Amino acid sequence: MSAWFPPDASFHASEMDSAFFGIYVAAVFAVVLVVGLAIVFIRQNRRQDEGDKAVQTGKANIVFQAIWVLAAVGLAIFAFNLDFCGYMDRQVAPGNALQIEVTARQWDFDFAYPNGFVADTLHVVVGQPVQLNIKSEDVVHSLTIPALRLNQAALPGQQSSAWFQADRPGTYEVRSNIYSGDGFPGMQTALVTHTDAGYQAWMASVTDIFVGKTMEEVGELLYNKHACKACHSINGTKLVGPSFKDLYGNTFDTKEGVQIVADDAYIKESILTPNASVIAGYEPVMTPYAGKLNDKEIEAITAWLKSMSQFGQQEGN
Ligand code: HEC
Repeated sequence: MSAWFPPDASFHASEMDSAFFGIYVAAVFAVVLVVGLAIVFIRQNRRQDEGDKAVQTGKANIVFQAIWVLAAVGLAIFAFNLDFCGYMDRQVAPGNALQIEVTARQWDFDFAYPNGFVADTLHVVVGQPVQLNIKSEDVVHSLTIPALRLNQAALPGQQSSAWFQADRPGTYEVRSNIYSGDGFPGMQTALVTHTDAGYQAWMASVTDIFVGKTMEEVGELLYNKHACKACHSINGTKLVGPSFKDLYGNTFDTKEGVQIVADDAYIKESILTPNASVIAGYEPVMTPYAGKLNDKEIEAITAWLKSMSQFGQQEGN
């Protein structure tokens, strides 16, 4: 049976497969029974015809008819009940479901997690119910996940939803099955179902800027992210503020006429409370970053400044 279906990753999928298979078997049984009986009766009547010209018109067997009708009605009610319960179950998400906002557009999907992080792949924890709130930014798409037997329209200007609970770890196909133009074949991504620890590790790797990067790389990233770039060059050019090139370990005069060495402590102070001491030749216009950058991030910036300074190299030796 499993050879006929895509892999299944949730109990809803197995449930749907069983319902489908049950109805399929009942249908095959009914066809074989009806066609079989028809053939038997045709042969019987033929034989009677040959012997005796008068065709026997048998009386209806009321008991037999009642059994036949009741069995058929019973089967129909059973199938309806199975499908209806399954349908209701798939419509209403449990209260503790994790909410993920899905946006479909030409030609990709976005998944926004409860912590605000947005990814282009869908990551969930096995055993955790997940509700998908789906909308489209342009034309009609669908969110189709064969392994979950899930297929929900994504409509512009309207939100639809679907929920599921994955029950085994793995990576499964996610796509749209509504043609939406040239880029349609590329409108595919992945559903990754994790263990709890695997999910935390994934979330950390994509949201924690330190994972998989050196301190210097993080420093450069923060320079771009926190707009230090607007006032500090890295090639020696003087902008609103002094260039970051050769800044670390260098000696500067302050407006107050004191000489300072731009060491770790001074850099930290300059970032958190820039106006505490202002470098001569500059205005005290730098925004204080206290509360915006934590100690580890300042360390990363410092390490990066050090890597760009000739004085930094000497100091390090
Ligand atoms: C609005 C412009 C502006 C922005 C944005 C800015 N700075 Fe500054 N920064 C200055 C100015 C002007 C000075 C020199 C005056 C002073 O010391 O306050 C300075 C000084 C500094 C100093 C001390 C320089 C020295 O020669 O010792 C450091 C370190 C520094 N900034 C780091 C940063 C970092 C890191 C960021 C981003 C997180 C940043 N700055 C963002 C304008 C800016």
